[in-house]
Amino acid sequence: MKKVITYGTFDLFHKGHLSLLQRAKALGDYLIVGVTTDHFDEARGKVNVVNSVIERIESVKNTGLADEIIVEDHEGQKIEDIKKYGIDIFTVGSDWVGTFDYLNAFCKVVYLERTPDISSTMLRESRFQIVRMGIVGTGRIAPRFLSESKYVSGVSIVAAYNPEKESGQSFSKQYGIPIYDAEYEKFLDGVDGVYIASPNETHCEYAKMALEKGKHVLCEKPIAFSRKETVELYSLAREKQVVLYEAIKTAYCPGFQQLMNVAQSGKIGRICDVEACFSRLADPDSRERTDANYGGAFLEFAAYNLLPIFKLLGTDYKEVRIDSIYGENGIDLYTKVQLIYENGMGTAKCGVGVKSEGQLVIAGTQGYILAESPWWLTRKFQIRYEDPNVVDSYEPRFQGDGLRYEISGFISKINGVDHIGYKLTEKEAEAMAEITELFMEKRRSRKNA
Ligand code: CTP
Repeated sequence: MKKVITYGTFDLFHKGHLSLLQRAKALGDYLIVGVTTDHFDEARGKVNVVNSVIERIESVKNTGLADEIIVEDHEGQKIEDIKKYGIDIFTVGSDWVGTFDYLNAFCKVVYLERTPDISSTMLRESRFQIVRMGIVGTGRIAPRFLSESKYVSGVSIVAAYNPEKESGQSFSKQYGIPIYDAEYEKFLDGVDGVYIASPNETHCEYAKMALEKGKHVLCEKPIAFSRKETVELYSLAREKQVVLYEAIKTAYCPGFQQLMNVAQSGKIGRICDVEACFSRLADPDSRERTDANYGGAFLEFAAYNLLPIFKLLGTDYKEVRIDSIYGENGIDLYTKVQLIYENGMGTAKCGVGVKSEGQLVIAGTQGYILAESPWWLTRKFQIRYEDPNVVDSYEPRFQGDGLRYEISGFISKINGVDHIGYKLTEKEAEAMAEITELFMEKRRSRKNA
């Protein structure tokens, strides 16, 4: 009996998939179809898949062509399967020519002609409206947003806005994106949503104007400097029935999500202490080091550090203490936020002029989790116990630094599929704004003293 195997995502099952399975089946007597899990697709950077793994398996099953269906959930599995199932032929479409030649060492590899003019990507794009996004602010993050959005189907960056004519123009020239340097309202008229990456003090106003015009908003942190403004922005979004997300990319990073889940799984017992640190020695001439009103360590890094604390200990802290070390120009070079809970404590350490170990330590009654720098990208972490010989190591796999997952979640939510709502909740965003407000008050009163 000749055994054939093929793999795919088979999202929004289409005639290209059917034709491939028919021809795969005809290559032998027994066809095994491997369907990717949601997590595996996410790990290899295939974002925006619409159907769940169960639905995709069902579509393959309904063709009646597969003698057996398996799930593919990790890299390197193909060799394993070929050996395990005694496969004679491995086949996929011609878009993969060359990629799987290495499997020739284990069985015959056949690339079947791909059906022209149809793909899941095309169907996803036609099924959902293409969200026309505008970028507000053309600084450091804007080019990264542009390149990462290319991995997300259903989004097109159509314009940028920057009142500073010169830097806007040079961005526009380099990336071929039309730029508006005046008339924010006119810029808004041509987009469905905005990504706000302008200086900190402008976020709230830009977000508010966009929401008022019924535009979706993905806004860099901090969304606002007070709880009240943050609550108002979220309720405005609700009233206008549009999506509002605060862009803290760590929150949307698959690795970070796994870290939070493992921490809450009971493996380290009850979580008692969360200590997070993020520091980067910024250039003394940079905005972070010179803007005494809206620069400094807290505004740069506190959102990242507070995130695991709120996720694991909640937002109902009993006491908060904020201490800073200031530079001569009034900038906080280093800020430490300490939160006291009924049964736990959290510390967030931020630095732009003081360097420390960038780690996240989650201490529990049975052990602790250590995520080393850069924990905010969460590429690896460990659980350690009293017995130093026992260590559980994790290396979550995903592509990029979280930004494409953030964009993909935002776009899906606009299209009515909410995969990310829980990743950064309104409550968490509001709690962050509350701490930000306290910090800003403290810094202001020090300046005025
Ligand atoms: N396939 C094909 N002809 C098409 C589309 C897909 O022969 N027009 C084949 C692929 O080469 C692969 C299998 O169908 O062997 C499953 O492909 P999959 O990646 O699930 O489908 P795509 O439509 O290519 O998905 P996407 O657009 O998300 O990449």
